[in-house]
Amino acid sequence: MISLKINQKQYDVDVNPDMPLLWVLRDVLQMPGTKYGCGVASCGACTVHLNGDAVRSCVTKISRAANQEVVTIEGLSPNGDHPLQKAWLEADVPQCGYCQSGQIMSAAVLLREKPDPTDQDIDDAMNGNLCRCGTYLLIRKAIHLAADMQKQGAKI
Ligand code: FES
Ligand code: FES
Repeated sequence: MISLKINQKQYDVDVNPDMPLLWVLRDVLQMPGTKYGCGVASCGACTVHLNGDAVRSCVTKISRAANQEVVTIEGLSPNGDHPLQKAWLEADVPQCGYCQSGQIMSAAVLLREKPDPTDQDIDDAMNGNLCRCGTYLLIRKAIHLAADMQKQGAKI
């Protein structure tokens, strides 16, 4: 049995310790917000936070997440009103939407580390998150919008 803390809730799962965190999230705990893209740490669709860092859950063994703090898109904010989520809507970022939860989870770490990122900071931080629909410029715009919201007092 492996004990997990995900989005502030405690879970015990009876799985192989080598199982990827992504599998546990989606198939065992029925949290489908985190997406499976490539399975080999190349696309970023599966990005979640592990102790505040952005990690690729498709290549993170569940044993590594045991008793650590995991946050998924479902837990980024209680009501889906994180500044990034609001900015994403305002900028109308998603096309097919598949990559977007991973994009937002990576952006959340960027904004925590660099509250007022430049375009270059954004491109550097986000370049591991691929979008087949090519929403990169809208993602940039939304991150700047969220940074502005943060300056006006919204909590990241
Ligand atoms: S599914 Fe994990 S990086 Fe692509
Ligand atoms: S919105 Fe379609 S892959 Fe990014």
